Amino acid sequence: MKNILTASQWDKKSLKNLFKMTDRMKSLVERRGGDDSLKHKVMTALFYESSTRTSSSFIAAMQRLGGSVIPITQGIEFSSVSKGETFYDSLRTLEQYSDVIVVRHPETGLIESTAPHIKTPIISAGSGSGEHPTQSLLDLYTIKQRFGSIDGLKIAFVGDITNGRTIHSLTTLLNLYDTEISYVSPTSLQWNGDNGDRYDKIEDVIHDVDVLYMTRIQSERMDKSDYDKVKGYYNLTPETMKLAKEDMIVMHPFPRVNEIDVEVDNDPRAWYFRQIESGLFIRMALLKLLLKPEREFKFSILKQG
Ligand code: NCD
Repeated sequence: MKNILTASQWDKKSLKNLFKMTDRMKSLVERRGGDDSLKHKVMTALFYESSTRTSSSFIAAMQRLGGSVIPITQGIEFSSVSKGETFYDSLRTLEQYSDVIVVRHPETGLIESTAPHIKTPIISAGSGSGEHPTQSLLDLYTIKQRFGSIDGLKIAFVGDITNGRTIHSLTTLLNLYDTEISYVSPTSLQWNGDNGDRYDKIEDVIHDVDVLYMTRIQSERMDKSDYDKVKGYYNLTPETMKLAKEDMIVMHPFPRVNEIDVEVDNDPRAWYFRQIESGLFIRMALLKLLLKPEREFKFSILKQG
């Protein structure tokens, strides 16, 4: 495996291996804070779109494994992009200095089509409204931590289903298992895929689901007038949570805007901060996989970027 570009690269066996390594990374951080296994390795974090969790967890992951980082995460306007440099030229440049490049870009599919021309491993940190593969891995890991097994679970995605790249990638992973997925959105932002039931209100699904996966409406991917029609469409409150099962969980990739009241944070079923914590462990495991593959950690990859 060279690149991590899409959720469809993974099968059940490779996910099992990844999660085993992720467990090891979690206990490493808890016991000793980290190690030096990626000493002298360099990761570039190149973000053409804003980020808090994805960029900082990748940087923390690299640092906890003894590696170092070229951070181009704040103000791409200070890089040569502002002089008109192409995405390809930026990657061809940064590959001279890095062992791995983590990259986020607003144009759907651009990372995927450029990566095959770059020798250094590329990890997609979000590709427009298309995919966010590493987020879906940490999401699935979080679900597995809570329920043990993925088979038999009912998951509802709520919010901007059309533009939510985390939803697209996680749907791909969940479809590897025996799961029931539903999509709750305003009509203008609905699910365009084949399977899955479509709904309009959280109340249509909340009583029945094991995982309620909330997302924000992606204002930057639509006209202001369209956004104004749907902004504030969903708001999960302690009152709504009374309708949910005792043993379900609420997830959210964050940032949240106004989809989940802060009072819901006190509910033991609110799992979004644990989800954020898992991001560190998953990304440590992914960096180890790409930069220091171990014998017992061989992956079968279905599609190669
Ligand atoms: C998401 C993203 O960037 O796609 N955030 C994240 O990476 N955790 C979700 C979003 O922006 O709404």
